[in-house]
Amino acid sequence: MLWWPTLWAALLGHWVSHCYQLDSEDKATIVELHNRFRSHVLPTATNMRKMSWMDSLETTAAEYITKCVWDHNPNRGDTGENLFVGTGPFNLTKAVTGWYLEHQDYTYHNDSCEDNKLCGHYTQVVWADTYFVGCASHLCEEVEGLSFTMATMLVCNYSPQGNYEGEWPYEEGESCSKCPEEAPLCENNLCVAETPEASETPPVSEGTTKSPQPGPDTPTPSSSGPDTEHTTMGTDQTITTSEGEQPLSDTSSPPPDSEEEEEEPMNEGGKATLSSILLAATALLLFL
Ligand SMILES: *[C@@H]1O[C@H](CO)[C@@H](O)[C@H](O)[C@H]1NC(C)=O
Ligand SMILES: *[C@@H]1O[C@H](CO)[C@@H](O)[C@H](O)[C@H]1NC(C)=O
Repeated sequence: MLWWPTLWAALLGHWVSHCYQLDSEDKATIVELHNRFRSHVLPTATNMRKMSWMDSLETTAAEYITKCVWDHNPNRGDTGENLFVGTGPFNLTKAVTGWYLEHQDYTYHNDSCEDNKLCGHYTQVVWADTYFVGCASHLCEEVEGLSFTMATMLVCNYSPQGNYEGEWPYEEGESCSKCPEEAPLCENNLCVAETPEASETPPVSEGTTKSPQPGPDTPTPSSSGPDTEHTTMGTDQTITTSEGEQPLSDTSSPPPDSEEEEEEPMNEGGKATLSSILLAATALLLFL
């Protein structure tokens, strides 16, 4: 009879974690938010491409996220990566918007970030040449590298990757005035292709139209050093981190870029939900 509780726990664990996976509506939200932010950059962009979902990037993120590690995926290939983790109720819009809100610390004219702030998530979100995104979310009982329990992680991978050292995320000027040949049309200030991008096909131009520029070891101004802020506020914590600051040097261990945002203190939603379900399951078990 001992295996019954185990089976129940396994099934429930599966069901609960399934609830934290992105559905098609979530994916549409992610793409829509990225494109909304990209179409509203200031100063305006001459060459900002419209972003689409790519299933293979989602697969990369989905395979990695179940490891529940607070660090960048060493096997993500040449994709950019933004991470988020938070306890309490997961709000996808808030997580993605948090990346964008780093624009408040970013100055376009000198391509730099305020001291002790992160801007790398923002610059990846609005990187003009990045036009594919794919993400996964997961409820982690524990997160390696953090003291969080029952935390939701969100990983987004980007292609072609952004955040090249010494490059601006986009070119300033009249919207759509320098759209690339393969995306010549203009829609909401974004450069779009004449036929929709096939989301299964990797971008053909990757690595061919331009050679990656940066010296591998020079960090961007936005993310140099271990700019770690890790103060604990209440029970709910969210942290985001971005990769791509050093796209060419992902063999070195990424800096512990982490940033904390305060959230309204709430009880640990994920945990509460899980325990009440387990309680209900136990009750059912006893009844049987
Ligand atoms: C999620 O966050 C967004 C942006 O902060 C907010 O407008 C929205 O109401 C939140 N949704 C829920 C369900 O809390
Ligand atoms: C970039 O410009 C902003 C605003 O003018 C300024 O506050 C900041 O110190 C500058 N950063 C660098 C690294 O020059």
